[in-house]
Amino acid sequence: MENTAEKKGVAKIDVDGKVVEMPIMGGTDGPNVVDVKRLYAEAGVFTLDPGFTSTASCESKITFIDGEEGILLHRGYPIDQLAQESGYLEVCYLLLNGELPTQTEFTDFARTITLHTMLHTQMDRFFEGFRRDSHPMAMLTSNVAALAAFYPDAMDINDPEERRLSSHRLIAKMPTIAARAYKYSIGQPFVEPRNDLSYAENFLRMCFSVPAERYVASPVKIRAMDRLLILQADHEQNASTSTVRLAGSSGAHPFAAISAGVASLWGPSHGGANEAALRMLREIGTPDRIPEFIKRAKDKDDPFRLMGFGHRVYKNYDPRAKVMQQTVHELMEELDISQNPTLQVAMELEKIALEDEYFVSKKLYPNVDFYSGIAMDAIGFPMEMFTVLFALGRTVGWVAQLNEMIEDPTQRIGRPRQIYTGAARRDYVPISSR
Ligand code: CMC
Repeated sequence: MENTAEKKGVAKIDVDGKVVEMPIMGGTDGPNVVDVKRLYAEAGVFTLDPGFTSTASCESKITFIDGEEGILLHRGYPIDQLAQESGYLEVCYLLLNGELPTQTEFTDFARTITLHTMLHTQMDRFFEGFRRDSHPMAMLTSNVAALAAFYPDAMDINDPEERRLSSHRLIAKMPTIAARAYKYSIGQPFVEPRNDLSYAENFLRMCFSVPAERYVASPVKIRAMDRLLILQADHEQNASTSTVRLAGSSGAHPFAAISAGVASLWGPSHGGANEAALRMLREIGTPDRIPEFIKRAKDKDDPFRLMGFGHRVYKNYDPRAKVMQQTVHELMEELDISQNPTLQVAMELEKIALEDEYFVSKKLYPNVDFYSGIAMDAIGFPMEMFTVLFALGRTVGWVAQLNEMIEDPTQRIGRPRQIYTGAARRDYVPISSR
């Protein structure tokens, strides 16, 4: 990747009377950054930013977010246009290659992905090692890492052809692994992929068909599944993506780096929020109980948070939440469940929270996970699978970001520093003298 950020000015940093100048760099859009790479060398100090609130970790050309305005662009294209007019595999091509494909390029890409959907049969033995009630995310994390053992050549990350092959394999095999994790957890036989179906339809079939019945997924569910995947496809330098970049920065096997991303996604502050949001909506149960939960969310002594609300970057409505809300309504109408009590609670909760002083002043708006749980539930997935579906959609983002990092000529191993506040130097005392 060619670095194209431009110098926009100079920041002067006064460190105990010593003034050092650091370049201010600017990209296509978004805030400028102070490039502090030489700060330690020139002033002998580090910067401290736990949680990376003010820190850009890389230069990237893949995704742009304006959190204040609620804008999300992939390679320049707005997320709502992609969700309405494109399809998941086309978005994958866009994220990986930087441009929308021509018809021929798309046909070739889709064909290549479907050629890699099967898993080595020995992979099935990994599943058999798990307890029946294992969380599907545990199976997904370890099985993605296990894939590395089957593709040792992919370790050659500096070979562009190996990188391309690994990218396609990951995008193609992720649905097969995710569906197996689900089938295993409910004690049903694994369903092999079918390459004549679309990405989303094939995934639904691998999850929901059984040998005893003919399975046909409804077009509305297929479209909703595809849209869910598009909405999760990439999201700039979030926790899991940064984890993938950090793990990959050591030159690790790409499948292992992606597995690290899956692990990072698992938590309730990140990919696990959709599961937590639906649990919360169900726990609330009826709109009359909403004030009780709003009160708890505002109470500093109560760890409860309104799940599906708030975002590190968006201080406005998450643009993905808008599309997701629309998808939920379409699903509910088609499935004739528009009176679904969870949806009623969600809509009322959203209304109340958007008018509440606490949420307004802290700019806490619904995020994508507020509605995605309801959509996944309507498609037929149990809550334990929600984060798995998120990982499935996000795989292409992780892969695109990992490749971009490897292709960046300025890339070095990620190695944050610290401010040490432990014991000062002292001499070892033999155990008999302590
Ligand atoms: N309910 C109640 N209060 C909240 C919430 C919430 N959902 N989110 C933030 N706050 C308060 C928080 O207590 C803090 O208050 P104060 O300034 O008085 O201490 C203030 O708002 C700022 O919150 P923060 O924790 O400093 O913000 P953050 O950027 O570190 O956290 C977050 C972002 C997403 C982890 C957080 O908003 C949260 O826990 N939300 C619920 C979980 C959730 O929905 N996560 C999904 C994120 S979207 C999916 C993805 O992209 O991964």
